[in-house]
Amino acid sequence: MESPYNKEPITQKITFPGFDLHGCSVHIRRTDKIHPYVSGNKYHKLKYNVKYALEHGYTSLLTFGGAYSNHILATAVAAKEAGLQSIGIIRGQELYQSIHSNPTLRKAKAYGMELRFVTREAYRQKDTPEFTDQLIAEYPTAYILPEGGSNALAVKGCEEIVQPNDEGFRIITTAVGTGGTMAGIVKSTHAHQKVLGFSVLNGTFQRKALSEYTEKTNYLLTDAYCFGGYAKVDKLLIDFINEFKEETGILLDPVYTGKMMYGIRECIKNAFFDENSRILAIHTGGLQGIEGMNLLLARRNLPQINL
Ligand SMILES: Cc1ncc(COP(=O)(O)O)c(C=O)c1O
Repeated sequence: MESPYNKEPITQKITFPGFDLHGCSVHIRRTDKIHPYVSGNKYHKLKYNVKYALEHGYTSLLTFGGAYSNHILATAVAAKEAGLQSIGIIRGQELYQSIHSNPTLRKAKAYGMELRFVTREAYRQKDTPEFTDQLIAEYPTAYILPEGGSNALAVKGCEEIVQPNDEGFRIITTAVGTGGTMAGIVKSTHAHQKVLGFSVLNGTFQRKALSEYTEKTNYLLTDAYCFGGYAKVDKLLIDFINEFKEETGILLDPVYTGKMMYGIRECIKNAFFDENSRILAIHTGGLQGIEGMNLLLARRNLPQINL
């Protein structure tokens, strides 16, 4: 998959209150700048998968996701740009009625994705052989990507997030969902570096996925800054994201990178890192989801994320 956008990672130093405590410094790698929708880790996850699909004669990409999934929209756009069709199996049959008020699904459809809405119960069966066989029977030339897009080719793509000249960073951080992105990052690091993964949901079960993709152990996982679970947000997090944007000009998303960056500030404050640590935070994108989150925040009378 060729990207017309910035493939060369931009890395910039962040000036933000608290980031320079204990001699620390924080840089951010703007992989969100690669592409508006096939953004951040999505570009890296899809790169070799799209290549594989094209080389092996598949005619479409088929994948799974929820109402505001970054992966669903990224897959729709990447497929379109590669001349492939796309199919999205969407969790929640009721979403069928609200597609026009859901910015993620509306855009995915506009990019040509066929959306199939299934009940939550059916969705839970999506990885069973029966479910897969049925999909293969219906879409025999579709290349199937797992929910979240993490597989061996995705991890290979994510290895490219870390660059050879990153050796000066002792700490590299990322937001963690399935663990695929972090696995790629860990694979590219040196023994003197440590990868700190901020799990955005309860638990650090991604350890299992990490150990399947890499034998390296120079990493730590924490869910201490997951704000109660996946896509859970509160005023504290929204205020932090808005303050960060105001001070640095950099927009963070509330589901992944906002939680990571909040966690970094807390870790520095609590002297979790060694003195004078040079920290590289990966901005993994996900900004498309803010529009949808703002609709949910309005319903809960919470402040909006400033775009
Ligand atoms: C913006 C963003 N950052 C980070 C992640 C976490 O990636 P992974 O599922 O590979 O852990 C995701 C999910 O794919 C994401 O959309």
